[in-house]
Amino acid sequence: MSQMAAGLIANCLREKPNAVIVLPTGKTPEGMYQALIERYCSRLFDTKRLTLFQLDEYPGMSEQDERSCFYRLRHDVLEPLEIKQHQIVRLHGDASEPDEECRRYDQALQRAGGFDLAVLGLGMNGHLGLNEPPSDCCVPTRVVELSQATKASMTYWSHVPEQALTCGMAQLLQAKRIVLLVAGEHKRAILQKTIQGPVTPDVPASYLQRAGNVVVLADAAAWPLHIQQEAF
Ligand code: PGA
Repeated sequence: MSQMAAGLIANCLREKPNAVIVLPTGKTPEGMYQALIERYCSRLFDTKRLTLFQLDEYPGMSEQDERSCFYRLRHDVLEPLEIKQHQIVRLHGDASEPDEECRRYDQALQRAGGFDLAVLGLGMNGHLGLNEPPSDCCVPTRVVELSQATKASMTYWSHVPEQALTCGMAQLLQAKRIVLLVAGEHKRAILQKTIQGPVTPDVPASYLQRAGNVVVLADAAAWPLHIQQEAF
């Protein structure tokens, strides 16, 4: 899964060196980033011209804070792939006006022509980015209230945040290509709902059924063979 995902990102950048992309943080993409760094070190693609948008962030959080999404992004992706500050469009957690920050982000994305590639993880409650249920396909980048399910998964926090800034569903679903990464048995039920269940704001990822050019990369624990046979 990680190798295929890294290959898709590398191919995207070979075909379009100035691609506009958005990448996830979290546990699932860790292997993908290792595989991507190996490809970068072998000079299979270049990062000098890409533009990277930050997917989500927690409010009031500075980039020095190890729990911030940007800290993880910088550590896992930006530094090893030598992506420079001017190539990044941030969602600043410590912005004094978070709503304005979200509008600025969407305007920057519009000017950039939208995402060429969005790589996303799948939340236990079906969120994409941090578009918590209920989120329909049209909601823009904005401040959201975190659900109990998401807060329960944030075991590394002593004081769990109540809100987040997230790239909107509208922006993500319009990406020219979307790659959804799903790993682990604990994601099996929500992946099945995402792919085979009704399209509903209660499972935001279910809108991927209507989006064009979606690739789902799941490991065998998340999508075992017997489910594949039933589905296809
Ligand atoms: P995870 O997060 O990769 O840490 O499971 C995925 C998500 O919540 O989007």
